[in-house]
This record gives sequence, C-alpha cells and structure tokens, in this order.
Amino acid sequence: MKLEQVVPWGRSLADYINMFHLTRSDFRAFILDCAGGPSSFNTEMTQQQCRVISCDPIYQFRVEEIRQRIGETYPIIIEKLAQNLTKFVWQEIDSPKRLGDLRMVAMEKFLADLELGIAEKRYIFAELPDLPFGDRQFDLALCGHFLFTYSEQFSLEFHLDAIREMCRIAKEVRIFPIVENFTGARSWHLDPLQAELREQGYQISIEGVNYEFQKGGNEMIRVCKVS
Ligand SMILES: C[S@@+](CC[C@H](N)C(=O)[O-])C[C@H]1O[C@@H](n2cnc3c(N)ncnc32)[C@H](O)[C@@H]1O
Repeated sequence: MKLEQVVPWGRSLADYINMFHLTRSDFRAFILDCAGGPSSFNTEMTQQQCRVISCDPIYQFRVEEIRQRIGETYPIIIEKLAQNLTKFVWQEIDSPKRLGDLRMVAMEKFLADLELGIAEKRYIFAELPDLPFGDRQFDLALCGHFLFTYSEQFSLEFHLDAIREMCRIAKEVRIFPIVENFTGARSWHLDPLQAELREQGYQISIEGVNYEFQKGGNEMIRVCKVS
C-alpha cells in the first residue's frame, strides 16, 4: 500500500458504540478493530482499561507521514461532502465543517497515541484477508467502513476470505455499514455472501443500529462460525 492511495478518516468511541451496538459486556471483551485506520476507538478504550488491538496497513507509516496525509486529504473530503449533502443525514452533526471538526478530534487522539500503541503492540500493521493472530484469540472483531463500503474495489471472493479470516480469529464479527460508499445502496455482495457463508456453517444476522450518517447506512452484519 502507498500512502498516496490512502484517504485517512477515523471515527470516535462514541461512534463505534452506536455503529456496532456495543454493550456493557462488550467492554469486557478482547476486541480486534480490523481496518481501524485513524479511529480513536483503541485510544479511548485503552484509557478505560479495555483490551483492544487495532490492525490496518496504514500502521506501517510514521505518525508524521499519516498526519501529513490527513492534512492533504481533509479539505478534499469536506468538499466532497459539501457537494453531496443530500446523501447524508444532517441532524446532530449539522454541517460538513462540524463533521470535519469531530473527525479531526478523533484522528488527533489516534495520532497522539500511535507511537505508544505500536510499542505496546496495540496497533499492528496487517491487512485482510490474512491476519497475524491465533484462532479465536479475540472475543469480538469489528470492521467499520471498509468491507461492503468499498464493494466496487474489493470482490465478493475478497469479502468472503476477509470475513472467514475474522471469524477464525474472533468468536464474533460485526461489520458496519453494509451500504457502499456515497451511493448508499446495499452492497451487491450481501446476498451471495450470506448464501455462501450460511452454506459453510456460519451464523449471520443483519441488525439495525442507532447510527445513520450515510443515508441508509444504519445496519450492521453480525457473523460467527458455529463450531
Ligand atoms: C475509512 S477507514 C475506516 C477507519 C475506521 N474503521 C472507522 O470506521 O472510522 C478504512 C481503513 O481500511 C484500511 N484498509 C485498506 N485496505 C485494507 C485491508 N486489506 N485490510 C485491512 N484494512 C484495510 C485503510 O487503511 C483505512 O484505514
């Protein structure tokens, strides 16, 4: 992966709680944030003595490189949001500027934590569909704004391999959202993917969550391998 190909954009713990319907008992779980990117989920959970490891290919880059890339791409994202206002729900967050401010707070928390987190092995350079973790090492794996979001760039086969791999390393997997980036349409991978995984003995459910910023993006998929 080249840093010029990355558009870093990360959400906060408060976002994750709603995106993934995280409950009190989830806070006691050992969690993998897969494709964690510049989210502050790991930072904020660690501050609350929760156990989280994040993995993402961007963790191969240095803090200053990621900070610079955020600076380059931030105005482009805000501009794109402003040009596509009708595709998003502007309620609590009432403007692209306000959204940008919130995302930047989360990304700054992540940047401030990255070096320490790498030393503590909380941020691991790894990418789907091959993760350097043991079988059932985690209670829960989360994957936000990567699978299904980029359905055009990543094939059905990639999605299947990625989900099977997350189910290998975690007892339960939650993925949010299940709509594509910007179009807001449900990913066309969903139906064939569910059929194939069910056939292979996976349990799958699609559940509504209390989070909708991208219009129609208010559902997550929960998957686990029945052993
Ligand atoms: C939009 S960010 C999502 C960040 C965070 N999960 C959130 O919801 O705020 C998508 C992330 O996917 C990461 N990514 C790209 N290819 C990947 C792969 N093959 N495996 C895991 N992560 C990948 C990118 O580096 C990027 O950080």
